[in-house]
Amino acid sequence: MKVALGSDHAGYGLKEVIKEVLKDLQVDVVDCGTDSLESVDYPDFGGKVSGLVSSGEIEKGILICGTGLGMSMVANKFPHVRAALCNDLFCAKMSRMHNDANILVMGGRIIGRDLAAEIVKVWLATPFEGSRHLQRINKIQKIEEDINIHGN
Ligand code: RB5
Repeated sequence: MKVALGSDHAGYGLKEVIKEVLKDLQVDVVDCGTDSLESVDYPDFGGKVSGLVSSGEIEKGILICGTGLGMSMVANKFPHVRAALCNDLFCAKMSRMHNDANILVMGGRIIGRDLAAEIVKVWLATPFEGSRHLQRINKIQKIEEDINIHGN
C-alpha cells in the first residue's frame, strides 16, 4: 500500500514519527512535506496530499496540522476525498467502517505520539463495511456531482 503524508510546521514532528510507523508497517510513503519547523501554510501541503488522493494516484493520505481542523477543511474541498479528523481510536475505526475515509487527519498539538501511532495502525487495518454505508457514500458523491454541474 502507498500513503501520501503531509503536514504544516505544527504537525511536522508528528509527521516524522508517523513516517517511521508507516515504514515499519511496510507501507510506501510519499512525503509531501513540510520538511522543517519553519512556519508554512497548511493549505499548500494539504492540497498536495489531497490532490494525489483525489486523482486516484494514491489510495490513502494522512495529514497533520496543529489541530487537524485546517487540514480537514482543505482536504474535503477535493472531489472524491473523504477526510476524517480522528484524534481518538473510536473515530479512527468508525471513519473507515462507516465513512470509507480515504484521508486521516490528526492534530499534532492535540495528541501524543503513541496514540497517533495506534490511530494510524487501526485506521489502515480497518476495512469499509459497505452495505447501507455505501449508499450513504454514494449520496455524498451525488452531492459533489450536483455542485459541480449546477454550482449550488
Ligand atoms: C498553525 O499555527 C495552525 O493554525 C495550523 O497548524 C492548524 O492547526 C490549522 O487548522
